[in-house]
Amino acid sequence: SPSAPAHRPLPKAELHLHIEGTLEPGLAFALAERNGVTLPYATEDDLRRAYSFSDLQSFLNLYYALMAVLRTEDDFADLADAYLARAKEQGVRHAEIFFDPQAHTARGVPIGTVVRGLSRALDAAEENHGITTRLIMCFLRDESADSALETFEAARPYLDRITAVGLDSAEVGHPPSKFREVYELARQAGLKCVAHAGEEGPAAYVWEALDLLGVDRIDHGVRCLEDERLVARLVADRVPLTVCPLSNVRLRVVDDLADHPLPAMLDAGLLVTVNSDDPAYFGGYADDNFTAVRDALGLDEETLRTLARNSFLASFLDEETRAAYL
Ligand code: HPA
Ligand code: ZN
Repeated sequence: SPSAPAHRPLPKAELHLHIEGTLEPGLAFALAERNGVTLPYATEDDLRRAYSFSDLQSFLNLYYALMAVLRTEDDFADLADAYLARAKEQGVRHAEIFFDPQAHTARGVPIGTVVRGLSRALDAAEENHGITTRLIMCFLRDESADSALETFEAARPYLDRITAVGLDSAEVGHPPSKFREVYELARQAGLKCVAHAGEEGPAAYVWEALDLLGVDRIDHGVRCLEDERLVARLVADRVPLTVCPLSNVRLRVVDDLADHPLPAMLDAGLLVTVNSDDPAYFGGYADDNFTAVRDALGLDEETLRTLARNSFLASFLDEETRAAYL
């Protein structure tokens, strides 16, 4: 396969992966054909040429537009199975996978269709790909708090398949504080909690995610370095940060991979992991991100092993399964 790394990739867990962000141009056109959906691009190459982003919003516009091809349970199962096949080649042994129910329910696709389709692929993942999985349901932070609450209620019949709630989409102007109530309900229902914070938004949003939402992990979090007290808090509480290096370059969170704060985060003693975010859009899957930071930042083998080990430490696996991976 063209995506297989030449070396043997380190075993790792992927903790920051939007399943809708794994929709490759080939599958997008195949699903468009299958569902009679017309894409505003004539060819896969035309579509690929649109993958040039100036910030988070410019990416999100394309990310939401391409989801028009995802309509049936089969579509979601095929999407997840294609991801898992590529993840396996990248050394991924465990994947905690985000999905965005509101991006589908807004188009008339019921949440049950999404969860059943994804679950079909995930339930077969250990047998078919040797990968254990969890699902994380994300709320779109640029939608209302009421919409998040409605989404949580619609998801109640499926909570046995959902491990955690998350928060994604356009960050600036949509602080974690907006979603206190739905996170409280999620915690009462026994779910873990994560949130994107400190990608484009300020360090103050990371504080809010910790103190108001009570999150177990921070997604991205690279801007925590702007606040010394915040770094001390994250280190003291061993709060994992799911960093996405190639995403940060493509969305211009950093100018260049060689300037990425990953080494500074490791030096500060933060529990950092490396992840792919939206690999179909950002030019690399899990191990591609490991290789890219190795080459651009000169990380040695021991540091790469630390990052891989951190990914299991930061996961929501039960202790026994985690121990088997470490
Ligand atoms: N940030 C916020 N929302 C997202 C992202 C991201 O990197 N990817 C998909 N939705
Ligand atoms: Zn993300």
